[in-house]
Amino acid sequence: MNGRLWHGADYNPDQWLDRPDILERDVEMMRKAHVNVVSLGIFAWSTLEPREGDYQLDWMASVIDRLYAAGISVDLATPSGARPAWMAQKYPEVRRVNADRVRQLFGDRQNHCYTSPVYREKVRLMDQTLARRFGRHPGVVMWHISNEFGGECHCALCQQAFRDWLKDRYGSLEGVNRAWNTKFWSHDYTDFAQIESPSPQGEHAMHGLILDWKRFVSHQTTDFMKWERDCIREIVPEAKVCVNMMYRFDGVDYFDMAKEIDLASWDSYPTWHKPTQTLEETAIDTAMMHDLFYSIKGQPFWQMECTPSMTNWQSVSKNKKPGMNIFSGLQAVAHGADGVLYFQWRQSRGAFEKFHGAVVGHDGREDNRVFVETAKLGELLERLAPVAGERKEKQAAIVHDWSNKWAMEEAQGPRNAGLGYWEEITRHYAALARNGIGVDFVNQDSDLSGYKLVVAPMLYMLREDFAEKLRAFAEQGGTLVVTYWSGVVDESDLCYLGDTPHGLIDTLGLRRLEIDGMFDGETRRCVALDPAMPRSAQGGTLCEVAALEGATPLMVYDEDYFKGSPAVAMHEAGAGRAYYLAARFEPDFYKAFYARVCDALLTPAWPKPLPDGVLAVRRGRFTFLENASDVPAQVDEIALAPYETAVFEAGERIL
Ligand code: GAL
Repeated sequence: MNGRLWHGADYNPDQWLDRPDILERDVEMMRKAHVNVVSLGIFAWSTLEPREGDYQLDWMASVIDRLYAAGISVDLATPSGARPAWMAQKYPEVRRVNADRVRQLFGDRQNHCYTSPVYREKVRLMDQTLARRFGRHPGVVMWHISNEFGGECHCALCQQAFRDWLKDRYGSLEGVNRAWNTKFWSHDYTDFAQIESPSPQGEHAMHGLILDWKRFVSHQTTDFMKWERDCIREIVPEAKVCVNMMYRFDGVDYFDMAKEIDLASWDSYPTWHKPTQTLEETAIDTAMMHDLFYSIKGQPFWQMECTPSMTNWQSVSKNKKPGMNIFSGLQAVAHGADGVLYFQWRQSRGAFEKFHGAVVGHDGREDNRVFVETAKLGELLERLAPVAGERKEKQAAIVHDWSNKWAMEEAQGPRNAGLGYWEEITRHYAALARNGIGVDFVNQDSDLSGYKLVVAPMLYMLREDFAEKLRAFAEQGGTLVVTYWSGVVDESDLCYLGDTPHGLIDTLGLRRLEIDGMFDGETRRCVALDPAMPRSAQGGTLCEVAALEGATPLMVYDEDYFKGSPAVAMHEAGAGRAYYLAARFEPDFYKAFYARVCDALLTPAWPKPLPDGVLAVRRGRFTFLENASDVPAQVDEIALAPYETAVFEAGERIL
């Protein structure tokens, strides 16, 4: 797969079978756009199997052959993301049941039951039919398993699967009762059959149950994906599979899913040019996702979808301005993408996505701006082929753990108005990105070796084994940053008894006394004791009061009953050091804080401070200098137009 960067799009020729002229033209235009791969037939089930058992694959064979003859490879989709009407009618069990226990009608997509044996069997027959016919075609380089896995089903089959999963996890009902603290509100279960998934008419107070349901849904989703993968591999053992994932998606633990696939990919739809964010902020938010999807496998990923122009489902459909498609494509590559693909190649004529941007619009022209810019990016990606496969150096890691997020956001208190877990992560990430530091994401199963800096924001659920890893990391010379609201509960969401942050008191050199929720806009002023810290900062969201047990306060609260307690503290822990942040501060604070933390610890991607809006990113021996702003920028002797990216290989400019 190395040796080139992939450029392409979702391709849905099943919508154009009555227009052979258009299918011919597609291939011609793809070549002009420097397309070398397409994700084929993602929603083509009703064309591939128009009636039960009647498989019609010849049209797809001629498409794959024609693409191959033109040098275009195929990322072949399994069509399980949307099932045909005949199936939904004949086998109601394939349709999902909502949390209110009402079964859905036929319609929409990505709403089938992941447990249903009928659905799994139909998928097996379809996937294996495709694999037998196309699995060894030299043009098929990858399998695109389904589309954007997500959602949950509450049918009787899923309830049973949930109970079986609980039996496996806990061994007995006593184990379940203990883990869920079921004495609360007289919830002891005496029979597994009494356990039901959360529902508006039923359970929504047992946090352990809710957490385990989320874990089960994630597990079942990945299990379904594995089913598809294994069906294909039964026919083609060497088949490579990928899954397209989503922005800040909550429903699946992507670290778990990533273990089961060959290639991670995600669908990237930032709203560039929105009035509420600077371009740099949008770029950083997008970069953060690229880094997450690089991290889940620790290897290059694909940006599987993005729009070359506009989406149609955001509140305002904003066009990418001239240059932005190229900027965002190169940005993906800078952060580890080996593929930049669009949704979609040719704009649909009807239904939900008829106004969604596509490489080829309804006008079918190749002289319009979108097509021309797409072709230009394709050309640049060809020039950047040496970047393909290049890994990123390990510098800093931010802990982002799905179970932690699920548990923390479900908890009642200390701030039901919203904890802003991603907002917290973004502040750390943005400051590191602005300082030119490469960031990976890790979870509580990850190996921390190789990192110099580990940041654990709001690690409310802290497993004993991970607390041990964090302690060892600091003791062996690592730098650790831990925030407020960490080390509160164990992996069953049961509160730790005794002093907290559990497992980290000796490392941080302090213990939590209290935590207070802040209303929106409410803050507590903090002042510096250490000259390298910002002179003052405002703490908000959640403000923690801690007692020092060996740590040095770098900033303290300066008002209310918090006055004098540490807002920022540092503790020498063995050969390393640990920092503690007692509240969420304004974004500028983090830039100064991380400048201090990273100084002499990590080498930034660019040796000198950069002007606002200019970001530097290192990917192995390549450095990308990006002007993420609407105005020209000057970095030493390098002039960058708005949205321009300069690329350097071992210091030599190559783009
Ligand atoms: C994605 C989806 C695509 C298409 C696209 C539109 O979420 O995977 O099939 O619908 O959105 O932006």
